[in-house]
Amino acid sequence: MRILVTGAAGFIGSNYVRYVLSEHPNAYVVALDKLTYAGNLANLAEFAKDPRFEFVRADICDTEAVGDAIAGCDALVNFAGESHVDRSVIDPAAFVRTNVEGIRVLMEAARAHGLQRVVHVSTDEVYGHVPVGSADEDARLAPRNPYSASKAGGELLALAYFTSFDLPVMVTRGANTIGPFQYPEKAIPVFVTNAIEDKPLPIYGEGKAVRNYMYVCDHCAGIDLVLHKGNPGEVYNVGVEFEVNTLTLATSILDLLDKPRSLMRLIEDRPGHDYRYSLNSARLEALGWQPQYTFPEALAETVNWYVENEDWWRAIKSGGYGEYYERNYAERLARSRPVAAG
Ligand code: NAD
Ligand code: DAU
Repeated sequence: MRILVTGAAGFIGSNYVRYVLSEHPNAYVVALDKLTYAGNLANLAEFAKDPRFEFVRADICDTEAVGDAIAGCDALVNFAGESHVDRSVIDPAAFVRTNVEGIRVLMEAARAHGLQRVVHVSTDEVYGHVPVGSADEDARLAPRNPYSASKAGGELLALAYFTSFDLPVMVTRGANTIGPFQYPEKAIPVFVTNAIEDKPLPIYGEGKAVRNYMYVCDHCAGIDLVLHKGNPGEVYNVGVEFEVNTLTLATSILDLLDKPRSLMRLIEDRPGHDYRYSLNSARLEALGWQPQYTFPEALAETVNWYVENEDWWRAIKSGGYGEYYERNYAERLARSRPVAAG
């Protein structure tokens, strides 16, 4: 199978390329990425000489470039997206462009070239805040921030290509994902890398927001199963049940790194913060998916990777990253509070 993987130089996309090339000896991957601030060729460096891999630098909004890359492919798996909620609060424009218009361009190209399988990677955030119970795929979509609203728009557009044009599209809605190569703007890599540098861990609000952190290999396995066995037109949740709040998360990271809990700082909350996500993944489990990593295993693997790959994240943190960090955190950290002992 010749697969176009878009957003392949980002966190989950690069892990997915690794998964495909190790699990499917006959697969050929065309990896496409615009290389925004979040895209990094270092994430794909190990495949540079693999005869089953090629890289194309392109924007998914560029009709001609996408058409050239998709020609001859059997399948498309789309990871390309603006992915960080805090950046979407600061400036939503790029989110609407890539996460909605980009999906239109991809679906048009997939339709024009008669692709046999199309997976669009979406997020559990489209359900919005889930105060009790778990969302199944029929739950109402109620996104509450510009990122999740743009993801909801993009996935509805992708599904419309199934209904209107019989394009065999499937959508996955994944939970918070952790592991190697995650850009240090998401909570876990911010906390881990700051802790290593003895810098404060910025915790939003009272640190009570709940997430279900899933190891990236489990997420990739779920997406790949949907690619091969999913029903066209169907949506599949991909999530684990274990719940952890931000304070417990930060404490666990400090303990793993043997750092003092005094590094934790409570800062002004994220606007529109969703306090809980929870997925019912029974539909994917019925296809044969089961997560292989518990949360403690996933967190330990992730922390170890950042400890062992300082060159990777220090190169990012010493570049344009500093400007974003200042803008998102500096004033809030100046007004921050310690976490009460106990
Ligand atoms: P990421 O930010 O690490 O990677 C996104 C990649 O997309 C980058 O390589 C970037 O260069 C590329 N990209 C952005 N705009 C592009 C454009 N216009 N054209 C081509 N490439 C472009 O994100 P991630 O965490 O790997 O997430 C990948 C996808 O999975 C996203 O669509 C995100 O919404 C979704 N998702 C993420 C998570 C998570 O916890 N990280 C969970 C569920 C779903
Ligand atoms: O749920 C899936 C989503 O998970 C994906 O669709 C998104 O692409 C991905 O970024 C992630 O979104 P979240 O907003 O849940 O992840 P983030 O790592 O930004 O935040 C996790 C929790 O930690 C959330 O409750 C906010 C909190 N937080 C985050 C940061 C960056 C902090 O307390 N401090 C921080 O500095």
